[in-house]
Amino acid sequence: MKLIPPCIEFNSSANNNSIVLGEALASEEVNFVFPSQEFSKQAHVSSIQKYAEMYGRSVEDPAGFWSDIASEFYWKQKWGQPVYTDNLDIRNGKIDIQWFKGGKTNICYNCLDRNIDTGNGDKVAILWEGNDLGRDATLTYTQLLARVCQLANYLKSIGVGKGDAVIIYLPMLMELPIAMLACARIGAIHSVVFAGFSAESLAQRIVDCKPKIVITCSAVKRGAKTIFLKDIVDDALTQSAQNSVKIDVCLTFENESALQKQMTKWVEGRDIWWQDVVPKYPVTCDVEWVDAEDPLFLLYTSGSTGKPKGVLHTTGGYMVYTATTFKYAFDYKPKDIYWCTADCGWITGHSYVTYGPLLNGATNVVFEGAPNFPDAGRCWDIVDKYKISIFYTAPTLVRSLMREGDEHVTRYSRKSLRVLGSVGEPINPSAWRWFFNVVGDGKCPISDTWWQTETGGFMITPMPGAWPQKPGSATLPLFGVQPVIVDEKGVELEGECSGYLCVKNSWPSAFRTLYGDHERYETTYFSAFPGYYFTGDGCNRDKDGYYWLTGRVDDVINVSGHRIGTAEVESALVSHPQCVEAAVVGVEHDVKGQGIYAFVTLAEGVSYSEELRKSLIKVVRDKIGGFAAPDKIHWAPGLPKTRSGKIMRRILRKIASNSLDELGDTSTLADPTVVDQLIALAHS
Ligand code: WTA
Repeated sequence: MKLIPPCIEFNSSANNNSIVLGEALASEEVNFVFPSQEFSKQAHVSSIQKYAEMYGRSVEDPAGFWSDIASEFYWKQKWGQPVYTDNLDIRNGKIDIQWFKGGKTNICYNCLDRNIDTGNGDKVAILWEGNDLGRDATLTYTQLLARVCQLANYLKSIGVGKGDAVIIYLPMLMELPIAMLACARIGAIHSVVFAGFSAESLAQRIVDCKPKIVITCSAVKRGAKTIFLKDIVDDALTQSAQNSVKIDVCLTFENESALQKQMTKWVEGRDIWWQDVVPKYPVTCDVEWVDAEDPLFLLYTSGSTGKPKGVLHTTGGYMVYTATTFKYAFDYKPKDIYWCTADCGWITGHSYVTYGPLLNGATNVVFEGAPNFPDAGRCWDIVDKYKISIFYTAPTLVRSLMREGDEHVTRYSRKSLRVLGSVGEPINPSAWRWFFNVVGDGKCPISDTWWQTETGGFMITPMPGAWPQKPGSATLPLFGVQPVIVDEKGVELEGECSGYLCVKNSWPSAFRTLYGDHERYETTYFSAFPGYYFTGDGCNRDKDGYYWLTGRVDDVINVSGHRIGTAEVESALVSHPQCVEAAVVGVEHDVKGQGIYAFVTLAEGVSYSEELRKSLIKVVRDKIGGFAAPDKIHWAPGLPKTRSGKIMRRILRKIASNSLDELGDTSTLADPTVVDQLIALAHS
């Protein structure tokens, strides 16, 4: 198999640049971190040879490989033939991906009923940890099913059925996965909106998918702060009504720990307390059997234009793929206790908080709070409290905790930890080493999982018992994934190389379309390099065949692992009456990975002031959400533009990062003097 790294001997002693799990990773020179024999022996995939065999079959016979795995799930009716059909080549017509078509199943049934039927009803499904110390709760698989059924019955009673959209705007309460599963049970399409988005962003999503109901809660506490979510929803519903999308029902969970019921504003006839209605419904609910290709959910993500894209995932392939990747990438075993710190408002929370773990019958932590509250030791307090064995987080959290000092980690035992995971952005080797040495005490492999909202599940990720990791590399492709690196002309590069990351085949959990805009799906992802799915990421492949992701190559910024379109921030800024033009670029940031750097041109006669800076930042918070607030506003009397009026972002990036000797050729600008003006204003 050509894709197997050519020079890795599964024998660390052959290489003095490597260590084995259990040893400290002291030197920056260390290249490979090998699994110990003990780890490999117990792993699902214990050697690179075994991986090569399985991977080989997965790409030579995808239908057979995935059918065998799919058979482990419950299907009311088996899928038809062929197992999958796809066209990823725009030159051959419509882009089309289908897996297990004709099969009838239900992902909620496979997460809950199936696990209960096999004797796991009393196993804990969700360990909920509240924001405030001492607040927690648990749900077994049987209890979770009962809660899901009650909500599903309520949804049915108000007329929500197969194919209807439901917007969920909830923080990390148990009710969030419950709501997702209840929708899935009755064939409704959930669209979770991260509860950090503003009213305007929520309204935009409501207008796009026209849900039958919005599900939210009164308020939530994050750290010491209370966020009044219901007020945000009220505002969003007013805005969507102005755009002719009227929502009849707003189901509101009362989150007592954050706010008393009587303090929540109420619209009679529309707003309903969850606690008043849902518990009255029966604890069993018939399953709606859906086609494998029926939609499961919509999740909006940022792209290079101002309008968010509704990424659509279907049921069967997504189910099979998320379950499988969860099992192999984390080497999951039934006795593991798993915690993913992501919010269900993002894809990681969909695939690896709700679906992947529950499909595997795992015990799963859902954490409401902020990871540094009440102090920087909170994560490890939770790890010890629940004896967590698999801990999955983002580099930005690793870096922020790293800054607080080792003592916040070392005062906890963490001896239950077995596997660590990282997602959201490339993990820089120094953060990798700290995560490995200090958090994992040198004994836990790190699965650096590269994937995207669009891919549904992990794509390039270590299998921790099968091959060595390298700090900073996502390593090798998972089953069925054929990554390729192409140059700017779309020519596939061989061996050691650097270019654009594409995928040349379909895999079961690939997204099927952008909701209501198949044309945008085709042009955004399949037109740049015909014949391939283009990821939007730059990537290097080293001499061992390992993949190193280098970040986005489009107009998307990755801030603390959150995808933000530069165009979204720019359109928020220019909506400010005193701002006429804005150009936003990403700039390196110690903790967030990338920060948002905004060049802003003001209206004639308006002068810069601290007050104006604050009100510009506020407009972004109001239009998108606090997580998209610019880190820096750079006053720009003019922007560097080509003669045809295109903003030269390349130059702006250099100014933002203070790399003035790398400005390059500025002679093609319509007015080269703007560059000097901008440099002069850099520190104002
Ligand atoms: C980036 C999150 C390097 C990448 C699952 C991708 C990563 C975008 C990694 C998708 C990783 C995510 N190493 N880069 N392990 N994980 N990315 O859709 O740029 O929120 O294209 O999905 O995050 O972000 P999204």
